Amino acid sequence: KKNIAVMTSGGDSPGMNAVVRAVVRTAIYLGCNAYCVYEGYEGLVRGGKYIKQMGWEDVRGYLSEGGTLIGTARCMAFFEREGRLQAAKNMVLNGIDALIICGGDGSLTGADRFRSEWPSLLEELVSKGDLDQKQIEPYKHLNIVGLVGSIDNDLSGTDATIGAYSALSRICEMVDYIEATASSHSRAFVIEVMGRHCGWLALMAAVATGADFLFIPEKPREDNWKEEMCQVIKQHRNMGKRKTIVIIAEGALDKHGNKISPSMVKDLLADKEGLGLDTRITTLGHVQRGGSAVAYDRMLGTLQGVEAVKAVLEATPETETCFIAITENKITRKPLMAAVKETKEVAKLIEAQRFNEAMALRDTE
Ligand code: F6P
Repeated sequence: KKNIAVMTSGGDSPGMNAVVRAVVRTAIYLGCNAYCVYEGYEGLVRGGKYIKQMGWEDVRGYLSEGGTLIGTARCMAFFEREGRLQAAKNMVLNGIDALIICGGDGSLTGADRFRSEWPSLLEELVSKGDLDQKQIEPYKHLNIVGLVGSIDNDLSGTDATIGAYSALSRICEMVDYIEATASSHSRAFVIEVMGRHCGWLALMAAVATGADFLFIPEKPREDNWKEEMCQVIKQHRNMGKRKTIVIIAEGALDKHGNKISPSMVKDLLADKEGLGLDTRITTLGHVQRGGSAVAYDRMLGTLQGVEAVKAVLEATPETETCFIAITENKITRKPLMAAVKETKEVAKLIEAQRFNEAMALRDTE
C-alpha cells in the first residue's frame, strides 16, 4: 500500500484546500494511505505531529474554506542541506513514498532539488547512523508531483494557477466598491494589486472593471507616460465620468526599469497645475489572497489533485518530475523544471527590460 503525502507551501492561495481534499480522497479511493504534511516544508523538517495520516472525513468541508487548512510557510531551514536531511529522514520514518506539493515556483524548485538530492541525502543519513540500510531500501526513489498554487498566475506552461481567478474576482469586487465612493465624491483612486513580477491580475482586473489607466511590468510605460495618462483621464472626465480608477501592478515599471509607485501616480493626478483630482491610494493587499475560492479554482484544484495522485501512481524511477497544468482547458502533465526555469527567465528578462523577449518566452507552450 503506497503512502502518499500532500502539502501546501509558500504563499497560500484559494483552491489549495480543494487540492488537499482531492489528493486525500483520491489516494484513499485508489487504495493508498493519505497523509498531510502541516506547515509546508517546515512540517517536513520538523516531522512528528506535523505529518498526519488522514481519513476520508478529515477533509470534509474543505472545498468552501479559504487559505490552506493544513498551513503553509516560507521555510528557511529547507534551503539548507541540514534541513533537507532532516526532511528526508522524516519521510522515511513515516513511510512516505510520494509527495504532492502545491505551491509557487519557489516551492516547486525546492521540490525538484529535494528529489535530485534524494539518493545522496539517504546515503548521508545512513553514514551518520541516523537510518540503516534496511530502512532506506524501499525508498530509493522519491516520487514528487507539483501543483501550481499561486494567485499571481505567473508560471510558464499552465494557463491558470490555482487561486488566480479567485484573487481576480476579489479585486474586481473591491474595485466595484471603490468605484461607488469614487463616484459619490468625484474622486480618483490609484489601486495597487498583487502579482509580484507578473501583471496578469492587474491587466485582467483593468479589463474587467473598465479602469481608466493601467501599469504592468510586461508593458512598461514610455517616457511620456505622465502626459499620456493625464490626457486619457482628462478625456474621460470631459466625457462626463465622475470617477477615475488607475490600476497599478505591484511590479509596475517604466521603460528604463524604474519602479512606478502608486504615490507617483497619485501626486500627478492630484497636481493642482494639472488635473487637480481629489485622489486616494488603496493597496488591496492580502484581501486578494484570503477568502473562499471561486468555482473555477475549486474545480481546478480538484481535477489537478486527482491527476496528481494518478501521476504519482504511474511514475517510474525514470520519470521526470512533473507538475499538473491546465492547457487549453485540458488537465495535463508537464516537466516541472522546464516550466520553473522558463518562469525565472521571464522574470530576469523583465528585470533587464528585455520585454519583447520576455513576452515571447511567456507565450511559448
Ligand atoms: O506570490 C503571491 C503574493 O501574494 C504576491 O502577489 C505578493 O507579492 C507576495 O505574495 C506577498 O507575500 P507575503 O504574503 O509574504 O507578504
